[in-house]
Amino acid sequence: MIVCRSVAELERMRDAGRLVGEVLTELAAHVKPGVTTADLDALAERRIAQAGATPAFKGYHGYPATICASINEEVIHGIPSGRRVLNEGDIISIDVGASLSGYFGDSAITLPVGPVLEEAATLLRVTEEALYKAIERVRPGGRISDIGHAVQQHIEAYGFSVVREFVGHGIGQRMHEEPQVPNYGEPGRGPRLAEGMVLAIEPMVNAGKPAVKVLADGWTAVTRDSSLSAHFEHTVAVTADGPWILTAREVPVPVR
Ligand code: MF3
Ligand code: CO
Repeated sequence: MIVCRSVAELERMRDAGRLVGEVLTELAAHVKPGVTTADLDALAERRIAQAGATPAFKGYHGYPATICASINEEVIHGIPSGRRVLNEGDIISIDVGASLSGYFGDSAITLPVGPVLEEAATLLRVTEEALYKAIERVRPGGRISDIGHAVQQHIEAYGFSVVREFVGHGIGQRMHEEPQVPNYGEPGRGPRLAEGMVLAIEPMVNAGKPAVKVLADGWTAVTRDSSLSAHFEHTVAVTADGPWILTAREVPVPVR
């Protein structure tokens, strides 16, 4: 069952989403050579606690941290570590989830660490563009697969590839709710979108081939061909007035 939320509920989800956006903005300001992914995790954990919220990922199926920090060929679910130091030229995907007053927000960005190669910069730009093209399809009467179709069209036009093994999801009073939101496929398939539905839309895009594998830590997903990977995610509500990006940041994060 796909839950449709009242305007009052969506406003509470906006509060959770706004916090997640603020945490990402603060983390982005700390992304530079020499910083460890554990430093970023500690910052996020403090900031979420200060807001009276709860990290959504910590303890989820045993996940040990507040954020996911995935560098270069790591696609998603990189576990923060004090031994993982950011280097100039890296790209880092940071995924943050939190619950506030019982409602969840979930958002991710991928950032360059200092100057990066042109291919990396293009990958980040195109993946973020694909997220916004997908968000444009969020309207009552639309179909779930319209979202993934928009992502796939944009990404493959650049010769990049869309990860198949992980998908976006409904979100609300749990982090993962129905429906699944793939980042590929034919348009016009799957459940019909209706006012009040809330979706976490999260394209994961590889510079090389689409295949991924999970490392022995049981979490970190990496590209099989070791190509770079990017991830952008927003929590988005379906409204009659158009998509409402609940994790929108007032201060945009400069990603390029
Ligand atoms: N944004 C990711 C997701 O929606 C983060 C989950 S990390 C986990 O699935 F550790 F919580 F699984
Ligand atoms: Co998500």
